[in-house]
Amino acid sequence: MTQKQVKRIGVLTSGGDAPGMNAVIRAVVRTASSQGVSVLGIRRGYSGLISGDLVELTRRSVDGLLNRGGTMLYTARCMEMFTEEGQEKAALTCRHMGLQGLAVIGGDGSFRGALALSQRGLAVVGIPATIDNDICCTDYSIGFDTACNTAIDAIDKLRDTMQSHERCSVVEVMGREAGHLALNVGVGVGATCILLPERHVDFEHAVIEPIRMGRLSGRNHHLIIVAEGHSSAQDVAVKVQESTGMDARVTILGHIQRGGQPSAQDRVIGTQMGCHAANLLLAGKKPTRLVISKDGDVVDCDMEEGLAQKKDLSQSLFEAALAVTK
Ligand code: F6P
Repeated sequence: MTQKQVKRIGVLTSGGDAPGMNAVIRAVVRTASSQGVSVLGIRRGYSGLISGDLVELTRRSVDGLLNRGGTMLYTARCMEMFTEEGQEKAALTCRHMGLQGLAVIGGDGSFRGALALSQRGLAVVGIPATIDNDICCTDYSIGFDTACNTAIDAIDKLRDTMQSHERCSVVEVMGREAGHLALNVGVGVGATCILLPERHVDFEHAVIEPIRMGRLSGRNHHLIIVAEGHSSAQDVAVKVQESTGMDARVTILGHIQRGGQPSAQDRVIGTQMGCHAANLLLAGKKPTRLVISKDGDVVDCDMEEGLAQKKDLSQSLFEAALAVTK
């Protein structure tokens, strides 16, 4: 297929929503429209592709979208897309609607569905958007910066009341099995300790001792950040209270970390990634690519290769976190 033969592409958001997804949708639509290519929005992720829940998107459809969190196309976790039958139905919709390419905005689970469609002959390009920031081949996933800022803002408020009551606040942070959000938020709020699924620490040494030593030197409140993939904040709080006698309170930030207006970073990188993805599809080749952020630039890599590894924490950031919490 040549560039001039590409007449229609699709775009969908899948998995957990992330602030900045709308910036990506807007960029895909505006880039395609500027080259005379029409765009079909697929609602509710792969569920919408399977059921044919589609909407024509024009330049005007994406007005006023850039500063809105969430996704105008809705999103869903579609278990049917993990079945042969579901994948065939989705591919059939693409063929019936004359889609010559599909931009998939989401996390690694979303890209597995995209790979299944590419095996059925559809050109697919993935854009990493998850607050977990756990997609290995990219330095950055859309939504992560906004989620960090939201969590840090909430925890700064917690610090006031913990200080006033001389308590220990134990805060559970999202991230599924990954600790990127917890590590960055923990450094950003000056946590006494950050508990991460990727790094085993001795609880007595990492949590109890710093609280005891802190109290001896006059520190009257403490903050523990727990990644949800490590353990429950409730269990940590019970241990802290039993071992130190300090009053402990639990805060589970939950889905507030997924909302809010996207930050400048998520708007700007989201726009860059959306444009890059659309141009890959408009080129008329049969890409199975993942748009990624690498060394400050937006490029792309083979989707399958990109998803093959697991993304570890930044060791230097982990060591910095340890250094400043002594
Ligand atoms: O993957 C993003 C994420 O926010 C995870 O950090 C979290 O564990 C999960 O989604 C929550 O899923 P749901 O929104 O379906 O409850």
